[in-house]
Amino acid sequence: MSHAKIPLAGVIGCPIAHSKSPQLHRHWLKSLGISGYYVPMHVEAIDLEEILHSLPKAGFVGVNITVPHKERALEIADLVTDRATLIGAANTLIFRKDGKIHADNTDGYGFIQNLRQNAPDWHPEAGPAAILGAGGAARAVVASLLDVGVPEILISNRTRVRAEALQQEFGRRLTVIDWVQAGNMMDDASTVVNTTSLGMIGSPALRVPLDGLRKGTVVTDLVYAPLKTHLLIEAEKMGCITVDGLGMLLHQAVPAFERWFGTRPTVDSATRAAALR
Ligand code: ATR
Repeated sequence: MSHAKIPLAGVIGCPIAHSKSPQLHRHWLKSLGISGYYVPMHVEAIDLEEILHSLPKAGFVGVNITVPHKERALEIADLVTDRATLIGAANTLIFRKDGKIHADNTDGYGFIQNLRQNAPDWHPEAGPAAILGAGGAARAVVASLLDVGVPEILISNRTRVRAEALQQEFGRRLTVIDWVQAGNMMDDASTVVNTTSLGMIGSPALRVPLDGLRKGTVVTDLVYAPLKTHLLIEAEKMGCITVDGLGMLLHQAVPAFERWFGTRPTVDSATRAAALR
């Protein structure tokens, strides 16, 4: 007797309980009528490589990778997309039929798609982008903004050397601004992005002066808990176009789901509701 194989996928992190990806993928599987499973997996760093090599044999077609394994997963992979190499981390793995592990990074894609969907008049080439933070998330944001034609990036981080490292790597279109002067970036910016964890539930507030923000500037926050951060509330009061960070999470999952399960899902209000459940 033979059984049709039900494809398995999931997300690997440490910790993993907070991840919204299981609700999201399960919503798509159910609404599209696809048989498949998406499971959260708590994996310690020491076990990562062995587990990644065991999963295909257990019926897994791929996994998402989250904190703290994104850089290590890139090293373990046999094949890597250009955008994952550029970002220096993997958030999506595809287990190929030939046994090879293929790594991609869809964070930058998700970031841009979120802006395109929720600020349809956004023109990346309209003017400089101001970025707060220079950690892992900022790398994906910088790479994707440069890719879509932002003319200049102003970047400010509490630890200045991390912003300088990004400038070294991504080149002359980046200018580093001191953290105490981060508010000055707002005057010129057409796009403003918070990539720090400031403003997240349980983290301190983002205290950068915002009075320089211009009407019509597109302001987005990668923090999505709460959905309306202090930055977005203040920016809205000043006539800016605001986009919350949940859409980035939803859009980054689209290419992975399509590769694993063969159907491209859509991101709409039902998807948002499912991820927030
Ligand atoms: P991620 O992958 O989410 O970017 P990360 O690499 O740990 O995570 O980066 C977190 C970002 O939030 C960094 O820009 C960090 O600034 P530092 O590089 O100076 O650590 C920023 N951040 C976190 N807590 C902060 C705080 N209390 N004040 C200012 N910036 C903070």
